[in-house]
Amino acid sequence: MIPISKPDIGEDEIRAVEDVLRSGFLVQHEKTKEFEDDFSSYIGTRYGIATSSGTTALMIALEALGIGKGDEVITTAFTFQATTNAILYVGAKPVFADIDPKTFNMDPDSVEKKITENTKAIMPVHLYGQTCDMKRLQEICYDNGLLLVEDAAQAHGAEYDGKKAGSFGDASCFSFYATKNIVTAEGGMILTNSEDAVSNARKIRNHGQSEQYLQELLSYNFRMTDINAALGLVQLRKLDFLNAKRAENAKFFTKELSDIDWLETPFVPDNVIPSWHQYTLKILNGRRDEFLQYMNDNGIGCRVYYPMPVYMQPFYQSIGFKEGLCPIAERVSREVVSIPVGPHLTEDDREKIVETIKGFEK
Ligand SMILES: Cc1ncc(COP(=O)(O)O)c(C=O)c1O
Repeated sequence: MIPISKPDIGEDEIRAVEDVLRSGFLVQHEKTKEFEDDFSSYIGTRYGIATSSGTTALMIALEALGIGKGDEVITTAFTFQATTNAILYVGAKPVFADIDPKTFNMDPDSVEKKITENTKAIMPVHLYGQTCDMKRLQEICYDNGLLLVEDAAQAHGAEYDGKKAGSFGDASCFSFYATKNIVTAEGGMILTNSEDAVSNARKIRNHGQSEQYLQELLSYNFRMTDINAALGLVQLRKLDFLNAKRAENAKFFTKELSDIDWLETPFVPDNVIPSWHQYTLKILNGRRDEFLQYMNDNGIGCRVYYPMPVYMQPFYQSIGFKEGLCPIAERVSREVVSIPVGPHLTEDDREKIVETIKGFEK
């Protein structure tokens, strides 16, 4: 089976983790600080706050920016539910914008229509590693006095107009979960240029403490460990190389698959360099589920990200969201399927993937 993803772990990662284990400093310590500094300067922000996961990074970022009860946060209907769960966890209300059917990302026109007097922030998600229309979204935020919080969990190293995803917002959040472009097993990071946000975020991450045993607010333990950070530091040094391999695989697939009339290859705007977290096809013949089954039966690990808009999840339905809210996201969720694109693919794997796809309608 060619897996949909596989972390690129070598001897350097193993040695780095071993060094931490031997050092005796297992929890948040110097390696975490080093990872925060290196990752934030790679993306292009002043501060990084490493966390236990991408989800906790989102929760901390929202709270650190003062978003909570009574506030509305406009986000995309087409994302992993961690994005919107974080909004609910801080007591705010997620408001779902529909998507652009070509890029799969939040449609700025839909965002504008959803603004009310309670809107406090916009939270774009750079889905599959393709950046959102950041120029329009920044303008909307500026014109309406809104905060911008990027969910960049899938977009390590992606670019828009020559600037990295994660460097546009008042804060941005990354995940280093085991399937992401770089991994720390579990882990996340908030990036920001705001001193206030960073000082709040550090407290929220660590039991509400401003210094040891001085608690100012109620909070959890959301820290990263030095074991995770050591892994992340080695991975970060490889990120551009790993992304280049993803881009090479994506280019190959687009060249080989563009002529097939029953599918659509990913659309990439001219000013965007994706991180190719996923390579996602649209199956236009109404047979997406059959195609998914066929690919997996033939040894190609394909997945659907995501089989429904978030608000169609049973939990979201139980709190009052209704079908029909974002018709484009609903349609697209029935068409998409992601094929393996990671740096683990060999040339033979790529050929096999293309040949298998071409065999579907024979
Ligand atoms: C778009 C998006 N947001 C948030 C998350 C949450 O990250 P984590 O799994 O590290 O909590 C993920 C990843 O799973 C994601 O893909």
